Amino acid sequence: MHQPVMLGETISFLVTDRHGIYVDCTAGGGGHLGCLAGHLAEDALIIAIDKDKDALQAARKTLDYSNIRFIHADFRELLKILQEEGVKQVDGIMIDLGVSSFQLDIAERGFSFHKDALLDMRMDSEQELRAWDVVNKFSEEDLAKIFFEYGEERYARQIAKKIADYRKKKIYQRPWN
Ligand SMILES: C[S@@+](CC[C@H](N)C(=O)[O-])C[C@H]1O[C@@H](n2cnc3c(N)ncnc32)[C@H](O)[C@@H]1O
Repeated sequence: MHQPVMLGETISFLVTDRHGIYVDCTAGGGGHLGCLAGHLAEDALIIAIDKDKDALQAARKTLDYSNIRFIHADFRELLKILQEEGVKQVDGIMIDLGVSSFQLDIAERGFSFHKDALLDMRMDSEQELRAWDVVNKFSEEDLAKIFFEYGEERYARQIAKKIADYRKKKIYQRPWN
């Protein structure tokens, strides 16, 4: 059973008004969301956002609360989302960054180290670019830049070179297609 990170602390620090409006920017498997919804009064409102449509649907099925509005989106659109929902101000915003257990558990999503599958790693399956495309098609320079800038990886150049060298030697077979 998945245990959401710092559940009690998150809810107790987040909630200042049980009748208020809250945003869960990374609803994921719905662990924090369910606890928050149960803690708030019926007239409260939670805007539950995630860019993973499947996770959001799974959370929607298990969480039977009338005070949650589920929204499939990137949380960088938060201002626009709040405007569309007619919300002028909120009492608290929660962001739990990382990969969800929902994403790790499904091999085809390509996040797991334990399960063999295509290196997909898209949090939003409606986007086109998979990690497989990046690792197999991007130039060595672009890979080094990505590892350095987004991964803060000091060995970015060496890792990118290893990948590029390996690609020259081996035509990668895709057993999943
Ligand atoms: C660690 S999980 C959240 C787990 C959740 N708090 C729970 O208790 O089940 C992180 C979630 O953030 C989502 N996510 C990551 N970046 C996002 C973004 N920019 N916009 C919306 N959701 C995002 C992922 O799809 C993933 O479901």
